[in-house]
Amino acid sequence: MMLPSDAPLFLPCYHQCAGRHDLLNSQTVANSAKSREQTTKPLSPFMAVLKGAANLCPFLGANGISATANHASERFSEAFHEWRMGIRTAGKIEMSALGITDPFAKNYYPTDYRSIFKAFRYITSDGSFLDYGCGMGRVLAVAAMHPFKRVIGVEISSELTEIARDNLVRCRKCCGSTEVITLSADQYVVPSDVTTIFFYNPFVGPVLSLVFRNIKQSIAIQPRKLTIVFKNTDYLRGADIDGWLVKTAEFAACDNTHKIAVFKT
Ligand SMILES: C[S@@+](CC[C@H](N)C(=O)[O-])C[C@H]1O[C@@H](n2cnc3c(N)ncnc32)[C@H](O)[C@@H]1O
Repeated sequence: MMLPSDAPLFLPCYHQCAGRHDLLNSQTVANSAKSREQTTKPLSPFMAVLKGAANLCPFLGANGISATANHASERFSEAFHEWRMGIRTAGKIEMSALGITDPFAKNYYPTDYRSIFKAFRYITSDGSFLDYGCGMGRVLAVAAMHPFKRVIGVEISSELTEIARDNLVRCRKCCGSTEVITLSADQYVVPSDVTTIFFYNPFVGPVLSLVFRNIKQSIAIQPRKLTIVFKNTDYLRGADIDGWLVKTAEFAACDNTHKIAVFKT
């Protein structure tokens, strides 16, 4: 699929340039192995620092010192972990730039690393892990470093699926296997070995309701302990969680954007 070179980018920060700019300029992300390599190859920390510094100046002018210090710390943490894990997942991408017209689909934006690591303190690695709307596979790459049986991503965009697969080839793994499936989440039948599910703003409305119904059905067919990590609890309003899920923890995301809640059956 051809990506428009003028597709909208909606956050001016260095990692957007590092991730999405390459993605948009490469035109045929999904078709060219070489362009995928350019898109997903991690930046060296030196390049990341240079790119970050260049973008901090306008940010400082608009937001002041304290916000800029937080922003810089977040960006450098992100660059460090991308480099350490050998993956490239940063950036923000609007669904329209990927040709996705589903009105309930949320844009691509990865969970910040510190929040992922914090969330993993509440997760045990027995069974299999599922990330709904896995994007470029950041959460999957962290999960793959744990001894899960399988680490599974479901993603509506084929371009993002390809990038997630490339990232998973590159990163260090100690799980049994990894798989990334291009599918709208409401069509996905939850396998009976899935014991941990991660959500970060993937979709809302009827898609979210159907997905919760599918999870509930899977538990009814194969009763088991299940942990659900949900980043951005605002979107949980209206979801059918009463009576079968218990909230066991809630904390602020490390980038201060949202709350993260942990639910267990
Ligand atoms: C906010 S991003 C989260 C990415 C990743 N889970 C993370 O935390 O780093 C939301 C992702 O959900 C995907 N998505 C949106 N609607 C979807 C759907 N119906 N089925 C599967 N994925 C979907 C988007 O393409 C995007 O990659």
